[in-house]
Amino acid sequence: MQSIQKLGVFDSGLGGLTVLNEICKYNPGIDILYFGDTARVPYGARGADTITRYALQDVRFLLSGGADAIVVACGTVSAVALNALRTAHPGLPIAGVIEEACAAAARETQSGHIAVLGTQATIGNGAYLRMLAAENPRLRVTGIACPLFVPIIESGISADDPIAHLAAERYLAPLRETDADAVILGCTHYPFLRETIAGVLPNAKLIDTGSALAQNLAARLGASPAAGADTRIEYCVSDDDTGFLPIANRFLDCIHAEKVRKVSIREV
Ligand code: DGL
Repeated sequence: MQSIQKLGVFDSGLGGLTVLNEICKYNPGIDILYFGDTARVPYGARGADTITRYALQDVRFLLSGGADAIVVACGTVSAVALNALRTAHPGLPIAGVIEEACAAAARETQSGHIAVLGTQATIGNGAYLRMLAAENPRLRVTGIACPLFVPIIESGISADDPIAHLAAERYLAPLRETDADAVILGCTHYPFLRETIAGVLPNAKLIDTGSALAQNLAARLGASPAAGADTRIEYCVSDDDTGFLPIANRFLDCIHAEKVRKVSIREV
């Protein structure tokens, strides 16, 4: 199997850190270049062409920084632009976050009814629906767009804040009246609000995309990350880094982020 020297991981902002955290947990000694496109977050409220253009630019930046494989740590880009990325970079190992999460949800559900929470772009695109149907055509799927979650998380509001609770209650209360028993956190930001969501849906099994992918990383990439003595991560963002480090470190438990570099993303 091909060996990866540096894994490029990207998201529109903080969300990809939930994937990064899991990657580091299951793949110690890995070398990672992380990019959060904080100047242009949120992606999920934008159209497919814009999301695809941003994603192509993000990957180009990671490749210029030495990445030789890519994890798309963003549900929105995974849903909307994965094919475009693969077409633009044939031969480059690229993994999205949707596939493993769907397989995990299909295993977990007892009722056969799965809910997918995501951005407007992700839910509108139907990628989770198609992937779950491929897992098992008899599954019933309810998609719920939760557009306020990403701005809440990016502004540093914590999971126990009443604002987070109000938004979760507004989006998710109707699910309590259904038999949906597995809920995919289909946006990589949403694990930041895991406790809030669990409070509103106490009986559902919550599935985050990062953990499922991180456990099968080499298989998903078709290439295996080289393991060094220490895990090394370089963090880059596209806007002033105010807020990134404290919010990141509140969430990261495998790794501690000490500095972040502001970079400019070239238009392509
Ligand atoms: N974290 C991303 C996702 O998984 C993007 C959210 C956004 O920028 O709207 O969908």
